[in-house]
Amino acid sequence: MRIINARLRQKTELYTIEIEKGLFSAINAQDKSLAASEGDIDARGQLLCAPFVEPHIHLDAALTAGEPEWNRSGTLFEGIERWSQRKPMLNREDIRRRVKETLALLIDNGVQHIRTHIDTTDPSLIAMRTLCELRDELKDVLDIQVVAFPQEGIHSYPNGEALMAQAMEIGADVVGGIPHFEYTRELGEKSVKTLIQLALKYDRLVDVHCDEIDDPNSRFLEFLAHEAMQAGIGDRVTASHTTAMHSYDNAYCSKLFRLLKHSGIHFVSCPTESIHLQGRFDSYPKRRGLTRVKELTAAGMNVGLAQDSIFDPWYSLGNGKLLRSLDFGLHICQMMGYDDFVRALDFITDNSAKLMQLKNYGIVEGHPANAILLSGEDDYSVLRNQGEVLLNLRHGKILMQRQPSTVTQRVSL
Ligand code: FE2
Repeated sequence: MRIINARLRQKTELYTIEIEKGLFSAINAQDKSLAASEGDIDARGQLLCAPFVEPHIHLDAALTAGEPEWNRSGTLFEGIERWSQRKPMLNREDIRRRVKETLALLIDNGVQHIRTHIDTTDPSLIAMRTLCELRDELKDVLDIQVVAFPQEGIHSYPNGEALMAQAMEIGADVVGGIPHFEYTRELGEKSVKTLIQLALKYDRLVDVHCDEIDDPNSRFLEFLAHEAMQAGIGDRVTASHTTAMHSYDNAYCSKLFRLLKHSGIHFVSCPTESIHLQGRFDSYPKRRGLTRVKELTAAGMNVGLAQDSIFDPWYSLGNGKLLRSLDFGLHICQMMGYDDFVRALDFITDNSAKLMQLKNYGIVEGHPANAILLSGEDDYSVLRNQGEVLLNLRHGKILMQRQPSTVTQRVSL
């Protein structure tokens, strides 16, 4: 199989990409546009890009908004209440149906790699079992990392620590946490120690919902970074949200950045979710409540952008489009300069692949032939036009293909 007339990121020429036995076998620049032979995919000068990576989504809660009640205040804390009402209604069929529907949305929008946070504060652990089952069942189609996520706390929920350990035994890939939601600061710190120990014991990655609050005194990030550094696993740790950093004093933040840099931990920000949930206790002016994506990036740290929710108790919109999260993120974080645009797709591709420690990611000879074709020639045009995903290719096989939408009639100007 060949893909001809493709553009690649940060390159100006057209390329021919050959695929054999599910791998990229040759990638060569073309002198000029080629005519397609039978079996070729003609990219028509559009951008062939590594698949999008969704590093933070709650698949167990997806598509449950309004069940049994709507989150009327729009706050994160009411979201947790609404979800605890929905949890007793979970069963295997319900979870499988909603997760598959959500995965189809993600595939249609160019995603092949997903990290999903699955609630462990449920004595049945039905969502954890079902997600691990689906991860294994669908491994030829998508890579899924399952995070054991203690939504109601490790030490503030009955038996929370034992449930986390059970989730590891069931097969969770990543240890999660929520230190700012534990009853006290002491329990928050204890939860960070517990989750790092679990990661060491089971040899797993770490991804913590950390300081997802507007409280400038919520400082579990420094504790997490230090514990990760001490344990020698900084590169295996991600701090998600860290929205309190938006409200930190600049002098404190400057000191904190030194530690963050030394620790080597990664970050995930969820722009649509945070702009919706944060600043809810402000009158005017209202804080944007996103972590400092621009400053973290400028300091050489790794940040991925994610959706977090699709139609769930916390966020009742969402459509599987990471380009939308990227668009919001760049606006809210005021990353709207030319240099930001020309590498914008890094935030939903390479950066997230790095924090998820994906192997053989990217359009490189010898790697699995995983790629998406986007309408647009480069990062800038794809972003500006919110380009469509025209093709989603995995191991050389087509997961999804769509016709580009076209205007069929227009008034003469
Ligand atoms: Fe989350």
